[in-house]
Order: sequence, then structure tokens, then C-alpha cells
Amino acid sequence: MSEFSTLLVTEENGVAVVTINRPKALNALNSTVLDELSVAFDELAVNDSAKVIILIGSGDKAFVAGADITQMKDMNVIEGKLFAEKGQHVFTKIEQFPKPVIAAVHGFALGGGCEIAMACDIRVASDAAKFGQPEVGLGIIPGFGGTQRLARLVGRGMAKLLIYTADIIDAPEALRIGLVQKVVAPEALLAEAQAIAKRILKKSTIAVNLAKDAINRGMEMDIPNAMQYEAYIFGTCFASEDQTEGMTAFVEKRKPAFSGVFAKK
Ligand code: CAA
Repeated sequence: MSEFSTLLVTEENGVAVVTINRPKALNALNSTVLDELSVAFDELAVNDSAKVIILIGSGDKAFVAGADITQMKDMNVIEGKLFAEKGQHVFTKIEQFPKPVIAAVHGFALGGGCEIAMACDIRVASDAAKFGQPEVGLGIIPGFGGTQRLARLVGRGMAKLLIYTADIIDAPEALRIGLVQKVVAPEALLAEAQAIAKRILKKSTIAVNLAKDAINRGMEMDIPNAMQYEAYIFGTCFASEDQTEGMTAFVEKRKPAFSGVFAKK
């Protein structure tokens, strides 16, 4: 991996942990963080040993407290648009990343912090985490995909309530509205994300990654096209050794040993 000034990336037993590391600024996303995230995910995409990614923030206060307000303060119209596009590009890269990405949120996930968490596949939160889209209080709107992903995740009405009021909600409320999938004690957060990663790693990597693609792309299609796409992806699974192994193991009443290899039959 490259050396980064605002990120730490470690990898162990198939799980890469990407830490956004600007604790003094509550891990606010400036251009450097966005550029480095883009490079880190490009490198992890072609790193065969990293099969699941966990995204966290450093320090004990914040996952990510948003886009960097100091950097945005004096932007003009063009610079604002370009900054939004830069963030959107990186978050879409995470959303479409060919492997599962889990956000482990321990503190503030505000603005761009909530938005980057929403670009991940699964969100696990500590019971001390706080979520919100406070942008309208700064005279802007969410610009790293928040108006779109929040509405798709929690529904239009709840997204509008949160975005119009800039209300900050706690982890149990985030769980209730479906913004996060699990809430655990702060000290159990990383272990919970690792445990989910471990359960995913026991399954066919090919099938898991294809399921991600089918869910993501299908959600953007109408139902007949989405079903057709699912059928194609389902068929593609039958070109993998994992499918042969998974079903043979079932019939032989043993645990499968997946290779993660595509093999033409
Ligand atoms: N950008 C830049 N710096 C930030 C920041 C941000 N989003 N959030 C926090 N910081 C900095 C603070 O300026 C402060 O720096 P100094 O020590 O140099 O003064 C440091 O982090 C610690 O923050 P606070 O002293 O404010 O900590 P606190 O505990 O009193 O408050 C907080 C914590 C409630 C999260 C508060 O920091 C806060 O409200 N932050 C901004 C949250 C926000 O509005 N996020 C949305 C940004 S806009 C956006 O994200 C747009 C988009 O969609 C693309």
C-alpha cells in the first residue's frame, strides 16, 4: 500500500481496516483525505488478500465530523461543485467497490461523515454514535450523495425531516429508522465489525461480491430488469469452483472449502 498522510491502512486475515486519521479535526474530509481514500480503495480493489474492508475514524470523539468546513468556507460556485463531485466520486467508488465495506461508527458521523457511512454496505455503530446531516445550518445542502442515499436508505419523509431540521440522532434512533444495522457498546464496536467480516469470509467470496453487485445495480432498475439481472448473476455463479464446492459439500454433509476461483465448466 502507498503511504498516506491522512489514512492508516492495515490488513490481517483477509480484513483491511482503513482508518481516517485526522483526529484533531474530528477526521473532517478535506481534499487530501478524499484523494487518499480514492487511492487506498483502488489499491485494495486489486489486493487479493483483502477480502472485506472496515472503515473507521481515529480518536475517541468522531467517526467523521463532515466535509472540511475550513476548506469549503471561501469556495465559489465552481469550486463548490467540483468539491461535491470529488466527494461523490470517491463515495461511489466505495459503494461500487467489488468487495464488502463495513463502516464502524463510534462517534459523530455528521454531514460527509454520515454520507461516507451510507456509501458503505453495512453500518455498525457504537451506542455513543451520533448521526446527522447538519448542512442546511451552514447554508448548503448535503453534497457527497446525502440527499440521494439517505432518502433511499430511510425513505423520503425521514430523509427530509433529518435534512431540513439538521437534527442529530443517536444510535438507537439510527437503528430504528434503518440507517444502521447494529448497535453495540463502544468497546465492542471493532470486534463486532470484525465478527461480521469473519462470517462473510467463511462464505464464497465470489458469491458475496456478486450479491453486492446484484443488490446495488438491481436497486437502480425497475423490477423486471432487476430480476433479469439477478438471473444473469445467478447463472454466473455456476461458472465458479465455489458453486461446485458449496453444493458438493452440502451433499457430502461437510463444510465447504471455498477457493474463490472462477473455472469454466
Ligand atoms: N470541518 C473542519 N473542522 C472541523 C469539522 C469540520 N466538519 N468538525 C470539527 N472540526 C474541528 C473544529 O474546528 C475543531 O478544531 P480546532 O480544535 O482547531 O478549533 C476540532 O475539529 C474539534 O471540534 P469542536 O471543538 O467543534 O468539538 P466539539 O466537541 O465542541 O463539537 C461537533 C463536535 C458537534 C462534531 C462540532 O465539531 C461540529 O459541529 N462540527 C461540524 C459538523 C458539521 O457541520 N458537519 C457537516 C459539514 S458540511 C458537509 O459535510 C457538506 C457535505 O455534505 C459535503
